[in-house]
Formats: sequence, structure tokens, C-alpha cells
Amino acid sequence: MEQKETVTLTDNSTGKQIELPILRPTNGTPTIDVRGLYRELGYFTYDPGFLSTASCRSSITYLDGNKGILQYGGYPIEQLAEHSTFLEVCYLLLSGDLPNERELKQFETIITRHTMLHEALKRFYSGFRRDAHPMAIMVGVVGALSAFYHDEIDIHNPEDRMIAAHQLIAKMPTIAAWSYRYANGLPFTYPDNSLSYPDNFLNMMFSMPTEPYKADPFFVKALDLIMILHADHEQNASTSTVRLTGSSEANPFAAISAGIASLWGPAHGGANESVIRMLVDIVESDKDVQYYIDRAKDKNDRFRLMGFGHRIYKNYDPRARIIRKTCHELLEHLGQDNEYQELFDTAMELERIALEDDYFVSRNLYPNVDFYSGIILLAMGIPLTMFTVIFALSRTVGWISHWNEMIQDPESRIGRPRQLYDGALPRDYVPLNKR
Ligand code: CMC
Repeated sequence: MEQKETVTLTDNSTGKQIELPILRPTNGTPTIDVRGLYRELGYFTYDPGFLSTASCRSSITYLDGNKGILQYGGYPIEQLAEHSTFLEVCYLLLSGDLPNERELKQFETIITRHTMLHEALKRFYSGFRRDAHPMAIMVGVVGALSAFYHDEIDIHNPEDRMIAAHQLIAKMPTIAAWSYRYANGLPFTYPDNSLSYPDNFLNMMFSMPTEPYKADPFFVKALDLIMILHADHEQNASTSTVRLTGSSEANPFAAISAGIASLWGPAHGGANESVIRMLVDIVESDKDVQYYIDRAKDKNDRFRLMGFGHRIYKNYDPRARIIRKTCHELLEHLGQDNEYQELFDTAMELERIALEDDYFVSRNLYPNVDFYSGIILLAMGIPLTMFTVIFALSRTVGWISHWNEMIQDPESRIGRPRQLYDGALPRDYVPLNKR
């Protein structure tokens, strides 16, 4: 009989032992199954921020930060970026495999047919202040979708779950573009089903009723690439939020809205915006780039180069390697006389110096995906506050794929972490006049 692999944990105070099974993944780090620990020894595990905890089984995305590997369904991100489209990647993440020609056509038709929003949803926008951050509008409007589709969804029915996924992927560009249009006092542009997914989004963002609009094909392709690269990144904060919210069997639109709220934070989806704010600061100051490099290296200064370094990638972020090329091509495409040239020159100077500087090289601090995506989005004329919205739009497919996987996983249960209580011991209530 095959020997089960285990690790043995000994409680030195009682001498009790427990054999904990080792779970072998198809790829990556082996995992110790600690589920019997509390039952057998009466201990919890302590792991703030989940640094060593696998919170679930998943077959959607594989990530190796040391080797700089990212794969969706086993397919390397480099190959998907070169040969695929965002909608094909959506199909892959949702179903686990690439579609054949007929399946892709059918999927594209389904997504195209769901792009419209219920007319009553338009009224939600006017409830927001004109200067509301588009991410605040996204959280509100996506959450409000649950008011429209709540009773129609049986989350234990795979077909219903897939319809919810299709609705989200299809409606997100419309919701996102309208949040920009509202904040700028512009009329809402309805989806145009003759356009591709990224082209349709740019059309809803920038077209005017008064004149024809045609998005630059270079921008359409660059946006499709950005969306592919941001589509999923396994159990990050927002994806884990969606899983945790959904684990109580909450409405999927409400769970995605929780994911958007989590993504909004500057430590997560907000970095692309911070990169541009940093570049503007540098350009507007009277100091050169080297001054900021020196500040980033100074341990007594809290300043860091935004868009450099990554918690997981201690090698080049594979997404950054891909997007860097597009970024340089785009800047060439725009030519020297565009309004952002000074910012771009500053970014390129920063990149050049940091990649040669021993401080950054020895700590494996490479530009991350957000350094380049921020520059590309700026070059496309996308306003700063929409950067994280585009991240949310791209990540929606990842979130809903994980939600779907979680609901059908027989091992999944309501998320309910334990705690290491650090508060007062039991004490008697003291009446107000005696405190
Ligand atoms: N500029 C200057 N020094 C840095 C930077 C930076 N951007 N990032 C890390 N370091 C130094 C840090 O001071 C430390 O030095 P030492 O070993 O001498 O103490 C060393 O590099 C390791 O840094 P760390 O803070 O232990 O690394 P971490 O994994 O905890 O932090 C990070 C990762 C992304 C938070 C950090 O690199 C950072 O703050 N980067 C700037 C913000 C940024 O671009 N964030 C976007 C991340 S990608 C978006 C996403 O995937 O959600």
C-alpha cells in the first residue's frame, strides 16, 4: 500500500503527536493539511496576511514568484498575450480550456448580447456627486445589480452561475464607461455590438453624439493586452474577498462589488495611479531623476519608487516584461510632440537608472506591471481615476471564475477564520455611575 506523506507535529508540553498529511499540487509548493489540528491537539494556526496559508484548492491560475511564471489554465501568459484575445482568455478562465472556433464565436455573441444595462440602473448614477471617484460608483452600481437579478439566480445551478458570469463580463465595460461619463457631465453612450470588447469600451468612454469616433487600433490592441495581463492573479486580496463574501452564498453581484472595494486600496489596484502621481511630482519639482532614486534608497526616507518591486515576484514580473515592449512601441507610435512627453521621458529615465543601479538589482526590484500599464493608460488619454476601474473591469472574469470554482468545490465551507484573542479576561459589568 502506498505510504501517505505526512509531517509530524509534537506538542512538547503534553508529548501528544499528530500526523499531518502533505497535499501535493500538480505544480508548485506542497501544502500541509492542518484541518485536524484543532480537533486533535486543540490549537489554531497563526498566519496574519495568509503568508503561509493555502486558503483553497484552485485550478484556474498558477503563479511562481521566484521563477517569474504566470499561467492561466496551464498556458503561459507570454503565449496568451501574443496569440490570444481578452474574450478568449475569459473563456479559458471560466471553463478551464481554450475554446474551439465555434465555442469562441458563441461566447463572443453571448457577451455582446448582454452589454446593455437595465434602464433603471441609469438613475443610480445621478444619485452620486459629480466628483465621486469612479471606483465608488463601481462599488455601488455593481452591488446594485443584485437588486435586479437576485431572485433569478440559483447559485447551485451551474447554468445560472454561468449566466451571472456572462452578465458581469458583458456589463462591466458599460458600467465603467458610464461612471466616467457621469463624472464629466457627458451623455451616456450605449454599447455598440459591432465593436470588439476593448473597442466598445473606448467608444463608450470617448465617443460624442456630435461627431463620429474611431478608436486608434493601437490603443484597442494595447487595452486588450492590459486586460489579458490583469485577468487573474490567483488568491490576491480582492479575489480572496470575493471568495469569502461568496462563501456565505451571498448574491454573486454583491460578492464582486466587495472585490471591487478591496481592489480600490492603494496597496492593491491603486499602484498604477500612484506611478503617474509620482512622475508628475518629479516633473513638477526642480530636482532630477537621480535625486528621487537616491531618496528611494535612503532608509531614513519613506519614499519608494512606485511601480517597482512586488510581494510575490522576486524575479522579473512576467507581465511587466510583456507590457514594457508595448509601452515603448506606444510611445514611439505617439511621436515626440504629445502632451505627456515629459512624463514619459521621466519614466524611461527612471527605468534606465533603476535597472542599472546595484540597490535595485541586488534586491530584485524590477518595474512591475503597474509601472508600464499606468504609462500606457495615460498615453491613451484615460484619466487617472479610471486606471483602477480598468483593472477592476479586467479582473472581473478572474473574480467570477474563482467564485464559480468555490461554489462547486465539495470541500468549500463558509469562510470563518479563528483568532488569537488578546483582550480582557472576564470581568463584571460596572454601572455607569460607578465608572
Ligand atoms: N523602492 C525602493 N526600495 C524598495 C522598493 C521600492 N519600490 N520596494 C522594495 N524596496 C526595498 C525595501 O526597502 C527592502 O530593502 P531592505 O532589504 O534593504 O530593507 C527590500 O527592497 C525588500 O522590500 P520589502 O518591502 O520587504 O518587499 P515587499 O515584498 O514587502 O514589498 C512592495 C513589495 C510591492 C509592497 C514594494 O516593492 C513596494 O512598496 N513597491 C512600490 C509600490 C508598488 O509598485 N506596488 C505595486 C505592486 S504590483 C500590484 C499588484 O500586483 O497588486
